Formats: sequence, structure tokens, C-alpha cells
Amino acid sequence: MPTPQQIRILEERRRKREESEPEEHYKPILAIEGPRFPGFQFQKPAAPKAGENYFCINNVPVWLSDSRQDMYEEEQDHVIRTASSLWDCGVILAKYLEKHPTLVCGKRVIELGAGKALPSIAAAALGARVVITDAADAINAAHHVADINDLHVNGRGPGWIESIQPLDWLHREKDLEKLSQPPFDVVLCSDVVWVEYLVPHLVQTMAELPLAPNGVILLAHQTRSLRIDNILFESLQTQGFMFTKIEEYELHPDYTKNGVCIWRIYRKLCHT
Ligand SMILES: C[S@@+](CC[C@H](N)C(=O)[O-])C[C@H]1O[C@@H](n2cnc3c(N)ncnc32)[C@H](O)[C@@H]1O
Repeated sequence: MPTPQQIRILEERRRKREESEPEEHYKPILAIEGPRFPGFQFQKPAAPKAGENYFCINNVPVWLSDSRQDMYEEEQDHVIRTASSLWDCGVILAKYLEKHPTLVCGKRVIELGAGKALPSIAAAALGARVVITDAADAINAAHHVADINDLHVNGRGPGWIESIQPLDWLHREKDLEKLSQPPFDVVLCSDVVWVEYLVPHLVQTMAELPLAPNGVILLAHQTRSLRIDNILFESLQTQGFMFTKIEEYELHPDYTKNGVCIWRIYRKLCHT
């Protein structure tokens, strides 16, 4: 796990690179690029202060946990370590939901590979009942975030977090069995396509989820290599999914980023 000092150095390098290089000149990268919306005060203060830059959904601040608390000690797997960071896709998807609350209000929603689960917190704040999932070793992050936002399991309305439970795309059979009914109306995925070998497993998990007939998967995705994107789209087609890119004007105007888009993924309805 990187130390706070290492994180500061990496963040400083990224900031300098962004200042000296226009974003469109970035080369495709294989590593995960750092966040672009880092300026928010996500730590819950003893008493909220006027003038602080809080991240809000419907004018209510959202708090995130301190990343150092989120992981089990000695956690070395980089795939799991990514869960305790907040990625831009999550911010963009949360703000997209805020702009289109009817997508989730009154709906049953599940998030895959949630990490700090910002889109789930936004959906619950907008009136959805939400199941948050991640790999078992990474699920702590979501528990902490649910706690500090008072969106406890079976907690306050208008929406609430119904459960926080492991769903590992690589060993999904038992985890899928533990998902209760009814089927989900919306599946949220934010920045879960970045490691090649995981992509077919993720898409297979999407295909095996209990999804309502008109259900939709919203995937906030950052392109890091065309090769991985091709694997994603081929896997989706193999599983019989259709997909369309949500137009940029439909996103929240203050929360967009080059290379990040939201895909609407759905099943072709069979007409008899
Ligand atoms: C880049 S992070 C994105 C986290 C969060 N969705 C966000 O946008 O901030 C990728 C997420 O995928 C999860 N993940 C990795 N491997 C997984 C697996 N086999 N099953 C389920 N989730 C997994 C990680 O734990 C992590 O939360």
C-alpha cells in the first residue's frame, strides 16, 4: 500500500504533468490515471463550515472515508487497493444521476466494484434502494462510507442502502445466489474496466445478475487502451447486450472529462 508520502509525490507529479501538457496530448496509458476532481473536502468535519468545497448531491454533502482505514492490513493486491481511491468516473456518474434522478428514484439499484461507492450513495440520496457490492477484500471501503453518510442498511429515506455484500466477478456463483429478489432496475459500474483479464468476468457477472426486463446498466468508463475497450465491447456482444454512449450534453456540465463516458447497456427486448 503506498504511504501518504508516496501518494503526495505521485499526486504532485500528475499535477505538474497536467499543467505542462494539454490533456488531449496524453498518450494512452496502461496504469490508472489519477483523479481530476481532487479538490473536494470529502472528510466529514466535526461541524460543516461555510465556504468549504464539499461534494454535494441535491445540496447534501457526501462524505468519504479515509483511504487508510478501508483496507485490511497487509493488503497488497493492486486490483483490490484501487477500491480505496475515488476515481473520476464515480464523480461523473454520481453527478449524472443527480441530473437525471428519475433514472434511480424508486428503483432497485446494484453497484458492481463499488470501491467508495459514490454513485450508490448518490442513488440512495436520490431515492433508490441500493445494494453495494465489491470483492470481499475491498468491501470495507463501502461500509465506512455508508456509516459516515448515515445511509445505514435499512436506514433513512427517501432511498436507502439495502445491503453491502461481496460480489467477486471471478468467483461469483455463491455471491450471486445471495442476492435477494426482486430483479434490479439499474446496475451502476464506475471505472471497473481497466485490467484486461477481469473484463470478460465482469461482463459475465452483468449477464448473470437478476436484471428487470427493462433494466439498464450504466457504465462510467475511462478509456485507457483501445485493446481493453475492444475486449469490453466484444464481451458485451457475446453476452447479447446492446450498448449506446450517453451524449456529453446529457452529463452534468461541470463533471466531464476527456476519455470518460457513460455507456448505457441493455438487453434487446424479445417480442413474441
Ligand atoms: C478502479 S476501482 C473503481 C472503484 C469505484 N467504482 C470508483 O469508481 O471509484 C475498481 C474496483 O473494482 C473492484 N474489483 C476488482 N476486482 C474485482 C473482482 N474480481 N470482483 C469484484 N470487484 C472487483 C475493486 O475492488 C475496485 O473497487
